[in-house]
Amino acid sequence: MKESVPSQERRRFLNWFLGGSVTALFGAIIYPVLRFISPPRVPEAATDQIEAGAANDPELLEKGFKIVPFGSEPVIVIRAADGDFRAFSATCTHLDCIVEYHKDEQRIWCNCHNGEYDMNGRNIAGPPPKPLTAYSVHVATKGSGQPGTIVVARS
Ligand code: FES
Repeated sequence: MKESVPSQERRRFLNWFLGGSVTALFGAIIYPVLRFISPPRVPEAATDQIEAGAANDPELLEKGFKIVPFGSEPVIVIRAADGDFRAFSATCTHLDCIVEYHKDEQRIWCNCHNGEYDMNGRNIAGPPPKPLTAYSVHVATKGSGQPGTIVVARS
């Protein structure tokens, strides 16, 4: 009889401890799952215009394009064969892969499912259901002898 009191206290403590552990475990599992299912809203960057580097950027001269961030969106800046600059959303309208520019064929290509866009961003082959969003581009000159800066803005 004397040992039953400490044993009951020990049992009560173990029940409390195990109950707390199970509750903490559920919290540790369920909270991340709920956060994954319902992520916090990230405000859209209020960007209407960006500078996309120098017009004589070696990457642009060599590859004919580069991807630049426009707020939270990737934008593809293309230096066309005629020297004009064009910019479109770099996100394929099919399943959101990032497109690239094929300088030799003068087409915008998505390597995920072989989607193609023309130099105006129109979907011309493959599964993309609609054109790429176009941005306006101009080159801002800084002064004599300075290379201009490519400025991309929402159309
Ligand atoms: S994601 Fe671009 S063609 Fe499918």
